[in-house]
Amino acid sequence: MAQTPSSRLDKLLSSMGYGSRSEMARLAKAGGITLDGAVLADAGQRIPVTPDLPMRMKIDGAALDPIAGLVLLLNKPLGMTCSHKEAGALVYDILPERWKRRSPAISTIGRLDKQTSGLLLLTDDGRLLHRVISPKRHVKKIYRATLARPLTGTEGDLFASGRMMLDGEDKPLAPAELQVISETEALLTVTEGRYHQVRRMFAAAGNHVEALHRERLGGLLLPADLAPGQWKLLGEEEIALIFQDSVGSLGD
Ligand code: URA
Repeated sequence: MAQTPSSRLDKLLSSMGYGSRSEMARLAKAGGITLDGAVLADAGQRIPVTPDLPMRMKIDGAALDPIAGLVLLLNKPLGMTCSHKEAGALVYDILPERWKRRSPAISTIGRLDKQTSGLLLLTDDGRLLHRVISPKRHVKKIYRATLARPLTGTEGDLFASGRMMLDGEDKPLAPAELQVISETEALLTVTEGRYHQVRRMFAAAGNHVEALHRERLGGLLLPADLAPGQWKLLGEEEIALIFQDSVGSLGD
């Protein structure tokens, strides 16, 4: 059986962005850190880092943030960039300020364009990140595209062919599935994550994407009650849905 990891309290809290180790020592001395209701006055002590710690530990009276190994599902709003350092509004600005100082850092799992909305995952778990974006896993990404011009009826075969080439690339796209919703709306399922892939696929077919929204990743759906800009922590069952093909429910 795997051993429960342990950490010095000051190191743990500092890695979660609460402040420097000396600040944590002062906070502990002042009675600002409790575990199961009892004050932890010595920030140098080691504590077991168990998944239930956020339910048991309080920092200045508030529940401890999620410990490392977190996965968040964000309904990405339009106009925000998936980057740690570009100018303008960044998706990380949505999260609590101190989370920017967490180590390991939280990163998006893949990217959505600034003008694409919908399901975006973020994690500090590098192994999970690579599992999701690995081309070998063929995780399905389902996008709803609103188009400038009516579909001609030839796009479905072109996208499914496995021979479609995008400008400037030397490897054909893996087959993608088009489901027509109306003359100017379609769901497109892709298993790769090439740069601006969906917009470029429709452009190559002579159309233009006016709005793009990601609805699903594998079997994980964007919950209907998660408004743009809102996020939720995912549990193990929800994370497992990413690697399933069928649509699963995100019941709480
Ligand atoms: N394809 C795009 O063109 N943009 C995205 O954000 C995602 C997929």
